[in-house]
Amino acid sequence: MSVREEHPLPAVPNRIVVTGGAGYIGSHTVLELLKCGAEVCVIDNFSNSSPEALKRVETLAGRGFQVEDIDIRNVNPLTALIDQFQPDAVIHFAGLKAVGESVASPLRYYENNVSGSINLLSAMEAANCNRIIFSSSATVYGEAQYLPLDEVHPISPTNPYGQTKAMVENIISDWVVSSAERAGISLRYFNPVGAHGSGMIGEDPLGIPNNLVPYVAQVALGVLDEVQVFGNDFGTRDGTGERDYIHVEDLATGHLSALYYLLDHQGYDAINLGTGHGSTVLEVITAYEEACGHKIAKRIVDRREGDTASSLADPRKAETVLGWKATKLLADGCRSSWLWQTNNPAGYQRVVSIDEVL
Ligand code: NAD
Ligand code: WQD
Repeated sequence: MSVREEHPLPAVPNRIVVTGGAGYIGSHTVLELLKCGAEVCVIDNFSNSSPEALKRVETLAGRGFQVEDIDIRNVNPLTALIDQFQPDAVIHFAGLKAVGESVASPLRYYENNVSGSINLLSAMEAANCNRIIFSSSATVYGEAQYLPLDEVHPISPTNPYGQTKAMVENIISDWVVSSAERAGISLRYFNPVGAHGSGMIGEDPLGIPNNLVPYVAQVALGVLDEVQVFGNDFGTRDGTGERDYIHVEDLATGHLSALYYLLDHQGYDAINLGTGHGSTVLEVITAYEEACGHKIAKRIVDRREGDTASSLADPRKAETVLGWKATKLLADGCRSSWLWQTNNPAGYQRVVSIDEVL
């Protein structure tokens, strides 16, 4: 049963502000919102995204929406916009997300992710908007003390990026519980992968990807030479790191389920969005080989600093509370990633034929 069937739309169209809506997860979620009839306003400074993503969302949805080039660090334009749009709820994706960069430039991360979020809550408060969904991350759990990771696992982030997520969760929780009218959910994503089934929108990292699947995709495409497998001496079934890869389309419907839940609930909660199933690095490479139809060069190298053996979600709370669970497999993520990658070998920069790249 689809999210829409499970959660019939309220009679009044919902007005939703989506910060960071031009980004990877935001663009897929905006598309789902539009498909469900929401009136959407995207706020993005395009620091890690392209307006082209939103043009494609409009094409896929068959209808338009408001887009504002605003930096959430700039409180005045942000406040004016939220006041003018009068959203019923805000979905807050905007943020910087590179772990290594956050270690090198912590203040940039605290300013963008934490100060930006405080600005957003202030703007919402001024406009009497009481509902927020926040993009948090499984990274808030830090080194797993047990698996799978449920929401009561201790919060112990190991880098500034993770710290910003834990801090913003706390700020939102305090803000929500300070008024009986308010409602908020932090969604803790595990490892997002894949692209929209059309191949028209997907993940478009700047420069060399940090994350496994976009890196594998570029090796499969011939842009990069080989996948470096970061260690094969972890305590996992083949020695390589194990993660819970969640399809971006499942993440998008997870936000819709959270939104419907917020419309008639008050209070704050934090909820995992994951599958509960783990795949190792070698299993991801094999799945991608099946999707692209050829072998992918790989080499075992030393562990990457800070990497843990396994990260796996306990996804039961999302099912119990939100009525949501992941429906897609890693194979779906690899197939859609490959379709996106081959249709758009240079991401949103330009559209060329794959023959020009191979
Ligand atoms: P993304 O970089 O593709 O999207 C983030 C968007 O926010 C971009 O469009 C960027 O331009 C915008 N943005 C950043 N700073 C801004 C600012 N100051 N003002 C306005 N816009 C700003 O990233 P994503 O993968 O779509 O992630 C979305 C959210 O989910 C982020 O908050 C990220 O931390 C979180 N998250 C991502 C992952 C992941 O692996 N992709 C995992 C867990 C959590
Ligand atoms: C996955 C696995 C690597 C690249 C990160 C952030 C986390 C969250 C999601 C935002 C690991 C291995 C990777 C490569 C490899 N983001 N790997 N070769 O580290 O689980 O999580 O993204 O919130 O905060 O830390 O994801 O995709 O980088 O790595 O062998 O070239 O692939 O060691 O086992 P990670 P990842």
